[in-house]
Amino acid sequence: MGNVTVIVGCHWGDEGKGRAAFFESQDAHMIVRSTGGNNAGHTIVYKGKKYALHLIPSGIIHKGKMNVIAPGVVVDPDVLIKEMETLEKDGIKVTKRNFAVSGRAHLIMPYHRDLDRLKEELKGNSKVGTTGKGIGPAYSDKADRIGIRLYDLLLPQKKLQEKIELAIKTHNQLFKANEGFENCVVDSKELAKELKQKAHKLKRFICNTDDLIQNAIRKDEKIVIEGAQAYRLDIDHGDYPMVTSSSPNTSGAISGAGIGPKYVNKTIGVTKAYCSRVGNGPFITEQDNEIGDLIRELGGEYGTTTKRPRRCGWLDCVVLRMAKITMGIDELCLNHLDTIGKIGNELGKIYICYAYKYNGEVIEYFPDDIEITGEIPKPLYISLDTGWDIPKDCKTYEDLPAKAKEFIGLVEEISEIPIKYIGFGADNKYTIVL
Ligand code: IMP
Repeated sequence: MGNVTVIVGCHWGDEGKGRAAFFESQDAHMIVRSTGGNNAGHTIVYKGKKYALHLIPSGIIHKGKMNVIAPGVVVDPDVLIKEMETLEKDGIKVTKRNFAVSGRAHLIMPYHRDLDRLKEELKGNSKVGTTGKGIGPAYSDKADRIGIRLYDLLLPQKKLQEKIELAIKTHNQLFKANEGFENCVVDSKELAKELKQKAHKLKRFICNTDDLIQNAIRKDEKIVIEGAQAYRLDIDHGDYPMVTSSSPNTSGAISGAGIGPKYVNKTIGVTKAYCSRVGNGPFITEQDNEIGDLIRELGGEYGTTTKRPRRCGWLDCVVLRMAKITMGIDELCLNHLDTIGKIGNELGKIYICYAYKYNGEVIEYFPDDIEITGEIPKPLYISLDTGWDIPKDCKTYEDLPAKAKEFIGLVEEISEIPIKYIGFGADNKYTIVL
């Protein structure tokens, strides 16, 4: 029996995984990021202070925890260095005792950001709406076996330059051939020199994280894997091609960390009481109207990473129920219970999607042949005729308004997942633990 807890997003990201990570980290020895990169934005509000983390696991705000960036992550060195500096300014010292990054993790290079922009531009109306952080091109180079890894920063400058030269052969052709991208052509000598300067700030943290993680597993110490992105953004199980370039589900997360499934003790799925999505792709319960605008305003649904206004809609429990199996979810963290109450106060109604009508049939799964049939599934809803306000001094489930409890009961019943954490405000102190 293992002692690994995995935290994953159930819809399209931005569910507030930081809350579950915060509570689960309190008795953990190690917190691990294992997929994605700085396309993720984990906001944590603790003791009135806001921390916006994109790469370093959120356990860094607790004293005495080891925080690890595992091999499955793609790391932008500029973002990592800036994040360490910001934490230091906030009084959190980042040292070898509380932070390590795998030498096998791949780097997001400046040319990956340029390629992200170029490829989106070339896709025209079919663009994904990426975060523009270079995630896809970095994972593509990794799969193409021309990626540059953190270990490469420790090589002599000449050797690093040779690796970059190999990687950019085709990329430079692409930059030269596309108007407006000519000045993105990479000078490998210059880039190797710049990277070697940055390497000074990072080298003491670069190591073999397998050793750290495996020792923790052997001692049965609790490890929390802090997922990034979410189920429907998974490259295999999401809304391909409108997905990210990694596997943010539980199996992807443990694979990226180098941990086998038998060591996973618990998986916590995180959802909001409504849904949001950034970027393009299907969103069955989307409210592309004044209801969506209201959800966005009351929920503060603007990207942490890109500041983009998020698309908003009602809670989709079809996706939640599917996420349960694909991601092996044991418990839920339900966020924004206060926001959905306020939406109910404004509209007099709240909706939860429990199934879809598709091709004349009621179905309880997300169809993967929408493009073939040309049919858009129609959401079927259960509604509640009310809203509520949650007093800020609310401490227990019993203190919650009756209608809020009814909403919680419906989510548990339809999703078939018990709720463990309820969030009713940005600060983690507004959490009920069941
Ligand atoms: P990429 O990961 O930047 O390549 O973007 C691919 C898709 O995933 C786009 O629709 C992004 O908006 C979405 N995405 C990536 N990371 C996040 C996240 O942390 N939250 C929400 N959406 C994300």
